[in-house]
Amino acid sequence: MKIGIIGSGHVGLVTGAGFADLGNEVICMDDNAQKIKMLRRGRIPFYEPQLFELVQKNEREGRLSFSTSVHEVVRFAKIIFICVGTPSRESGEADLSAIEHVARALAKNLEDYRLIVEKSTVPVETGHQLYTTIKESNRKKIAFDVASNPEFLREGSAVQDFFNPDRIVLGVESARAQKLLVELYKPFKAPILVTDMKSAEMIKHASNSFLAAKISFINLVSQMCEEVGADIVKVAEGMGSDRRIGKAFLNAGIGYGGFCFPKDLQAFAWIAEKLNISSNFLKSVREINETQKSKFVSKVKKALWNLKGKTLCVLGLAFKPETDDLRFAPSIDIINQLRTEGAKIVAYDPCAMPSAKKVLKGVQFAKNAYEACRRADAALIMTEWREFRELDIGRLKRLMKHPVVIDGRNIYDPLVMRRNGFRYYSIGR
Ligand code: UDX
Repeated sequence: MKIGIIGSGHVGLVTGAGFADLGNEVICMDDNAQKIKMLRRGRIPFYEPQLFELVQKNEREGRLSFSTSVHEVVRFAKIIFICVGTPSRESGEADLSAIEHVARALAKNLEDYRLIVEKSTVPVETGHQLYTTIKESNRKKIAFDVASNPEFLREGSAVQDFFNPDRIVLGVESARAQKLLVELYKPFKAPILVTDMKSAEMIKHASNSFLAAKISFINLVSQMCEEVGADIVKVAEGMGSDRRIGKAFLNAGIGYGGFCFPKDLQAFAWIAEKLNISSNFLKSVREINETQKSKFVSKVKKALWNLKGKTLCVLGLAFKPETDDLRFAPSIDIINQLRTEGAKIVAYDPCAMPSAKKVLKGVQFAKNAYEACRRADAALIMTEWREFRELDIGRLKRLMKHPVVIDGRNIYDPLVMRRNGFRYYSIGR
């Protein structure tokens, strides 16, 4: 099939390269000419495992190309996915101006039937707005459909997630749209859930908000565990063994971050309020997430007494492993709070340092974890990269000024750490 992707960011690029790999012909479009130039030269603007290989292979084999022209995409593709960003406004409401802009540009270029699919995370009823906007600007009255097909890709495993989804959600309003999308998704093994557009939009926002709630719930329990001396890892294991609860997303830590959960939760709360439905539950989820970060700072203070003049080694900056993304990473808030207390920060992240250098001012960056820990008063684990789990802790101890580890992701065994002479603090145990 001939596919067009509008917006070649994380979602657009993975989706485009993925569909190309399944034998479709794909044009990925973006109005950022710099980005398209970079992609044409075989460079990916962000780090995502396996994406470089996937893009290269499909470009070489002639199924994937890049463009800055909406006109070219509309002329070429039968199915057009909108994958542009939907950032938050200050109020929490999603900013949909990019979607509207795309809708008008698509409408102006319509010459023949096209199926326009929203993949970006959008508030419920956006699909209907999209339909109305396209209809309004569609002067030649060309037939078209709008559908919703939310993505559930996680950064760091987006390529894997694309090819192995748990489910495929198709929000359609016509038999023609349904037939096209079912055909496109034929190679996938996952169950296909066909529903209306509003329900599909709701599924995406509700899923992300639920996952954020699950994390905040376990973080709240971790705070209670700490007070009474229980072990959150065991508690999560015990809870997760109940199939109704499930083990996933029960890792207590320093809170969730990234470009999806904080933004989607806020947008969902905003929708609830607009509908005159209490958003207190959703707000609490966010509050717990904020508390989790400040509690971590308190933990560091408690462990080191005064922070003024102390050197803290921060291991991990990205909001999760296998990504260089720092957007809404808990590490940023925590580092800023620690710096306000007068601490000196030396940080290391296997992947996110180039982006961190732009965002984190006054932080010193080290070449590797050991160098970051040299002469440090304490090491703080902020992201659970595999290489931190595999560190030689004996060497770490010899390098540090004081053997203090404050682990925000529970990657080490407290017993092992204590046996090796560390003063070790973690989350909820
Ligand atoms: C998320 C959704 O999972 C994905 O379906 C959606 O399409 C986009 O948003 P992503 O933000 O890439 O994906 O990462 P995810 O793996 O979901 O983690 C989000 C945050 O939650 C990270 O900061 C992570 O550290 C945190 N988290 C996750 C926890 O603190 N504990 C957990 O048990 C799981």
